[in-house]
Amino acid sequence: MKPTPADLQPTKISIIILAAGQGKRMKSALPKVLHQIGGIPMLERVLATAAALKPQKTCVVYGHGGDQVRAAFEKMDLQWAKQEPQLGTGHAVLQALPEVLADGVTLILYGDVPLISTTTLAQLVATAQLGKVAWLTQLVEKPAGLGRVVRDDLGKVCAIVEDKDATPAQREIKEINTGFVACPTELLVEWLPRLTNTNAQHEYYLTDILGIAVAEKVAVETLHPCADWEVTGINSKAQLAELERTYQRIKAEHLMSDGVTLIDPARVDIRGELICDSDVSIDINCLFEGSVKLSRGTKIGANCILRNCTVGEASEILPFSFIDGANIGASARIGPYARIRPDTTLGNNVHIGNFVEIKASNFGGGSKANHLSYIGDSLVGKNVNIGAGTITCNYDGANKHRTIIEDGVHIGSDVQLIAPITIGQGADIAAGTTVWKNVPPGGLTLNAKTQLSNPDWKRPTKKK
Ligand code: UD1
Ligand code: CA
Repeated sequence: MKPTPADLQPTKISIIILAAGQGKRMKSALPKVLHQIGGIPMLERVLATAAALKPQKTCVVYGHGGDQVRAAFEKMDLQWAKQEPQLGTGHAVLQALPEVLADGVTLILYGDVPLISTTTLAQLVATAQLGKVAWLTQLVEKPAGLGRVVRDDLGKVCAIVEDKDATPAQREIKEINTGFVACPTELLVEWLPRLTNTNAQHEYYLTDILGIAVAEKVAVETLHPCADWEVTGINSKAQLAELERTYQRIKAEHLMSDGVTLIDPARVDIRGELICDSDVSIDINCLFEGSVKLSRGTKIGANCILRNCTVGEASEILPFSFIDGANIGASARIGPYARIRPDTTLGNNVHIGNFVEIKASNFGGGSKANHLSYIGDSLVGKNVNIGAGTITCNYDGANKHRTIIEDGVHIGSDVQLIAPITIGQGADIAAGTTVWKNVPPGGLTLNAKTQLSNPDWKRPTKKK
């Protein structure tokens, strides 16, 4: 009687990730698998997808630039196997076998194929858990360069033939090897040492285990990825850019199906995680980095960059604003041309206008800085109005100092606040004042100045 999935013992899963290739065509000092898709290194994506399968062991096969790769993932619970020299994919997997469990199933992934999905991989693993060799293949229009899946007259898989070893007739085959395979580990342990390199490239081909499986009458099942782009590998900067566009298109589609309005889905980039509530609208050329959360009804204008921030309900970020590391309340209006820097919290109904830079500051509800200001290391109360050209002079050349502006303060235009300083509740500061002493609550503070006019003044003229 055939086992049904319910009869199966929970099988141990090992994952081997091949990442030893040099990636010469990237023409970069950075190892290939550390190049990013959607702001995350390719290998980090593969590791996260692998982790979702809850494997007992995960081993990365590394080679060229390997120390840099290892260092990047130091904190993770991973095994590492060095492959030097690189004698082919079969040789690569063989190096990793001592690092994984001897029983259960082993799944083979690639550090330079970053968008493989957990769903596709789970199907491979489940098939291998039935004792079969589960091979992921794909039908493509242009199979050149790839391994071809050879089938007999009945359509049963017999072998995978590499492009360089294929006959002209085999080169016509459009079913290709994606490289992804899952297999009972004990079969790999038995078969891999038997591989030879008598082929066009003098490499130990992982694909040759398929021929062995067929010869030994071990069942081979082929599966296809849930989506074609899942198995796209990266060898060059052009391929990296192309897959980045694919990734961004998919991200945009997900956002739109969740109800986000994207004025042009081809002109939004997400490098990290963007979480949107209902009725969020995003205009063209916006970039989201790290973790960004947009609440209900927020509007993001054209050409904005938002990094690691949250934006409250019905708030509007106007064009050309750069928000980095800030929490923004509800019904706020930021920009155009605003720069909000890390450790900033802006309350509800705050208005920040053009050419205003805010750093490590807190604005209470209803406060405004509408034009041309620098506010740094400041605690601004509620309903404060900061006039055009106000500067907090927070840096004495050695240390940073805090400015405290209490509720209801009105600051005129072109005011310098020399920190550390406190402006008392409800105070008014006259335009053009340099404030270097604490200001008591209420009243008007100004610098004693005079204004002179010289009626005899002659404007200079150019010499002939
Ligand atoms: C391999 C497959 C081919 C398949 C293609 C899909 C074999 C023999 N061929 O081709 O059937 O269509 O992938 O892209 O498996 N690697 C190592 N060590 C090595 C060699 C490769 O770690 O010694 C890694 C590379 O870093 C890369 C992956 O294995 O991530 C595939 O290697 P690559 O040279 O790109 O593929 P091919 O061998 O040409
Ligand atoms: Ca190769």
